[in-house]
Amino acid sequence: MQKISKLGVLTSGGDAPGMNPCIRAVVRTGIYSGLNVVGIRKGYQGLIENDMYDMNPRSVSNILNLGGTILKTARCLPFRTDEGMETAYQNLKEQGIDALVVIGGDGTFTGALRFSKKYPDIKVMGVPGTIDNDLYGSTYTLGFDTATNTVVEAIDKIRDTADAHDRLFFIEVMGRDSGAIALRAGVCCGAEAILLPEKATAIDDLIENLRAGQHNKKSSSIVIVAEGDKNGGVYDIARRVQNEIKVYDIKVTILGHLQRGGSPSAFDRVLGSRLGYAAVKALLNGHTQKMVGLQANNIKITTLEEALTQHEFKLEQDLMEMADILSI
Ligand code: F6P
Repeated sequence: MQKISKLGVLTSGGDAPGMNPCIRAVVRTGIYSGLNVVGIRKGYQGLIENDMYDMNPRSVSNILNLGGTILKTARCLPFRTDEGMETAYQNLKEQGIDALVVIGGDGTFTGALRFSKKYPDIKVMGVPGTIDNDLYGSTYTLGFDTATNTVVEAIDKIRDTADAHDRLFFIEVMGRDSGAIALRAGVCCGAEAILLPEKATAIDDLIENLRAGQHNKKSSSIVIVAEGDKNGGVYDIARRVQNEIKVYDIKVTILGHLQRGGSPSAFDRVLGSRLGYAAVKALLNGHTQKMVGLQANNIKITTLEEALTQHEFKLEQDLMEMADILSI
């Protein structure tokens, strides 16, 4: 087994609360295990631009409570090209880095897998860090819990004003390809309807559902729409419903990027710490092209290939059905 001596760590793609606790765990576990640890700024962009710095245990002091990522992040298009990857590889060789922990979502893992197939002498371990909770191999991804709590807090506030005015609100939450936040937040906030990219909802059915609510003397209604829902966007849906249901005053709120910020929840701090620790241990044990994840509260290792390809309609069907019944 090829021993590793110098470890690089980066965050890539959309930031997620919990990335900082994870970076802290990677740095301190690496140093404790006798490795040199290098922080790479702005994800794959830092690899290409050779933007890296030596880290020590104090480099990650007092960051457990911080949202965002101290290493910064980026969505790096040049890393998708052969030239970009070659430059990144040459920079890693020059720095003497022989292993990487990459913290991010599916785009990050796609890049990591391609890179490590091309340059297998650089060992790669993924940590699922995305608010979207859409990777196979981990029941929860880093940031999902915090983002969901942020959304719930916001929707609770909207419910107050919706109720005061007898209004119907359409609230768009993040999730270009994932309805995970929408579904959980919908259960937590008693949403009258939840629209998701993974499950088609006919507008006629939505209208019927909202009419039933009126009939049942509901004073306000909340419809949560995940960003990636296929009905043409939250404003379009609201307009189509407004044409059919005249009694409600209809409002639209897009929660946007506030969902990605904020101090990580206790859950995400523990998860980030566990996954960061486990990622370094897995590399030291000879694993590469894999991802560490949480399954039934245990750390499990999944290949990056599986993490990327096995994900399909992971949403909890029982939650969907229950949310419908509990919001009558
Ligand atoms: O991948 C996380 C995520 O927040 C998605 O839910 C969202 O669609 C996307 O990132 C937004 O990305 P950006 O911040 O680059 O606009």
